[in-house]
Amino acid sequence: MILLVTGGCGFIGSNFVRFQRAQHPDDRLVVLDALTYAGNLHNLDGVLDASAADPAAVTLVRGDIADAALVEQVLRDHQVEAIIHFAAESHVDRSILGPGEFVRTNVLGTATLLEQARAAKVARFLHVSTDEVYGDLGPADPPFTEQTPLAPRSPYSASKASSDHLVAAWHHTWHFPSLITRCSNNYGPYQFPEKLIPLMILRALDDQPLPVYGDGMNVRDWIHVEDHCAALDAVLRRGREGEVYNIGGNSERANLAIVRRILELCGKSEALIRHVTDRPGHDRRYALSIEKIERELGWTPRRTLDEGLAATVAWYRANEPWWRTILSGDYRTWYERNYHARKAVHS
Ligand code: NAD
Ligand code: DAU
Repeated sequence: MILLVTGGCGFIGSNFVRFQRAQHPDDRLVVLDALTYAGNLHNLDGVLDASAADPAAVTLVRGDIADAALVEQVLRDHQVEAIIHFAAESHVDRSILGPGEFVRTNVLGTATLLEQARAAKVARFLHVSTDEVYGDLGPADPPFTEQTPLAPRSPYSASKASSDHLVAAWHHTWHFPSLITRCSNNYGPYQFPEKLIPLMILRALDDQPLPVYGDGMNVRDWIHVEDHCAALDAVLRRGREGEVYNIGGNSERANLAIVRRILELCGKSEALIRHVTDRPGHDRRYALSIEKIERELGWTPRRTLDEGLAATVAWYRANEPWWRTILSGDYRTWYERNYHARKAVHS
């Protein structure tokens, strides 16, 4: 398969590229990424370098999914057969500070990609979405199923719900061969340290205060990113066209419980916890039924949250240079210095 991976330099996209290289070494991957603040070439260290021997194995193209001419050229030049679409603005707090870029990338970018993929007769299109499109749950509500009506409440989730509607419309109108997944909160290696788990780990390791929004009793379902990647692989290869599949970790936890466990794993005191002003419109609880993907595709999450969190803390401890270059901002300048040399090798 020749697979286009949009957003392959971000957190989940780069984990997916590694997963694909390990599971399907004969496939060819084309990574299309704009390298926004969230994209980091270091996330593909070892992957791009290893493909130097076989330059067609993984190709990196720096570019914007909203650039129709570029997308058209990439699909044609690389004879792309399938697309897995990760590229997005992904952080809720940033969507509250500035929603415009979320609409541009997540809505217009997805529409552009869909239209170019339809014109190029791409045979499979997996849209990677989120449980946040379903809205918010009370403590005793049953989990979201694929039939739950969409009711997004933040600019981020509204932009993702819009993109889900576009994907469904392309399938309904033109029988475009698309699928949608909706996953809960991911954690694991290479996650940008603006999200709860990596932020708390790095602040704990540096003895900095840990900012917990509000009372810390908001609940999320957590899944290790490698479990998410295995689920995406199953849906990409065996899912039914036009369908939605929820993906989750069966691990609901209050934020405060996560933060306390991280402090324990880092050997630091709970005195570092600071309750700070709540996120505006903060969703209280997400929970997902994953019965459909378990029944239809035989996928189930493998990692418990406790072992996954311990492994994640160990990864951040062992990969301090990776996150220090992010905290210092050097990962951006390193990229500008090295991109052209790499581009010459890989595209
Ligand atoms: P991320 O922010 O870490 O990475 C996003 C990537 O997309 C970056 O590499 C960035 O450079 C790239 N990008 C952004 N705008 C682009 C554009 N216009 N053109 C091309 N590339 C662009 O995000 P993530 O956490 O890896 O999430 C990936 C996808 O999974 C997103 O669609 C997100 O909505 C979805 N998702 C994330 C989670 C989670 O917990 N992180 C859970 C469910 C679904
Ligand atoms: O549910 C899936 C979604 O999970 C994805 O679609 C999003 O891309 C991803 O960012 C994530 O959204 P959340 O808003 O749930 O993740 P975040 O890590 O930002 O926050 C998790 C919880 O922790 C949330 O209740 C807010 C809280 N929080 C977050 C930060 C960054 C804090 O209490 N303090 C913080 O500093």
